[in-house]
Amino acid sequence: MLVKQSWWKKSQQINYASRASIDSTIKRPFTLNLKTLNDTARAMVAPGKGILAADESTATIKKRFDKIGIENTWAHRRAYRDLLFTTPGFEQYTSGVILYEETLFDKALDETPIAKLLASKGVIPGIKVDMGAKPLAGGAPEETVTEGLDGLRERLEKYKAAGARFAKWRAVITIGEDAPTDYAIHVNAHALGRYAALCQEADIVPIVEPEVLMDGDNDIDTCEEVTDLVLAAVFGELYAQRVALEGIILKPNMVIAGAQCNNQNDVEEVAERTLRVLRRHVPSAVPGIAFLSGGQSDILATAHLDAMNKAGNLPWGLTFSYGRALQAAAQKAWSGKNVEAGKAAHLHRARMNGLAALGKWDTSLEKSA
Ligand code: 13P
Repeated sequence: MLVKQSWWKKSQQINYASRASIDSTIKRPFTLNLKTLNDTARAMVAPGKGILAADESTATIKKRFDKIGIENTWAHRRAYRDLLFTTPGFEQYTSGVILYEETLFDKALDETPIAKLLASKGVIPGIKVDMGAKPLAGGAPEETVTEGLDGLRERLEKYKAAGARFAKWRAVITIGEDAPTDYAIHVNAHALGRYAALCQEADIVPIVEPEVLMDGDNDIDTCEEVTDLVLAAVFGELYAQRVALEGIILKPNMVIAGAQCNNQNDVEEVAERTLRVLRRHVPSAVPGIAFLSGGQSDILATAHLDAMNKAGNLPWGLTFSYGRALQAAAQKAWSGKNVEAGKAAHLHRARMNGLAALGKWDTSLEKSA
């Protein structure tokens, strides 16, 4: 009885606290265009479609071009991205494309502005707005915090005028000897909240990307534990910073053993654990979840997404927002010369992932291709 009474008192306090914050939410100094945000977010996770992450910074695309012996010049970046965006039929499987700033303001090879070209195919243009993950002062040696909040409100207006309807901000959480610290999780979650609130103010859907890196030697249990902590922190910040969950897309890592771990789990285990963690933290108000591929092989990234959609009965749309797993084959096939082969490889991976987003993929489809 005594226990019950004190629990009751505590719950009353919690209720008062949350009522106070609901009151102040109503006094939001701007009108949130929730319908526009929700329409865009739902279109981003339309059935059988996902997002092409082609927003590599100039430094990151250099790493990709180095692998195929291509010099990292503006002309090569433009030609390569033109190949992606003029692939016939890719729009059947692609709801949106995340662009790097250079590309958003660039023109296709036929001089059509890129954002206009994408929109003409029914593909929504998006923009990476973070300024990268920088070393975290006082954190564990490998920890970072993502920068780019200063001046973001003004940049968002510029991006919106150029046609961007959604944005991306990637926070990076490393698993290591002494990492992640609560400190790193907290500052990254806080920045994601601030970014998301600013995007919604500008009618731009924020893709909220807290990436727990999958390239260490940790096992799947550790990845599950860390992903659990990170998502709890992120959704806490989104709530505290008055972000409307109906107008976001979550872009998480899957729950998977690090690439250097000797014990790799089967597809079903990864799918089951990933769904378990997402169900714990992601309210059904969120229209969709679009995974990053994080260094998984093309086929595994597709197989994992497919297995989760085959499980069915999910409260959110579940799709892809892959960079490497959509582009690696296209880059290799292109290698700076063979545009048609590059387009064919891009279309194939887009189609495979489109099927996985419906839970209708099968390995035999890879072999026949
Ligand atoms: P990967 O799919 O290569 O992990 O990239 C997705 C992305 O956009 C990371 O921010």
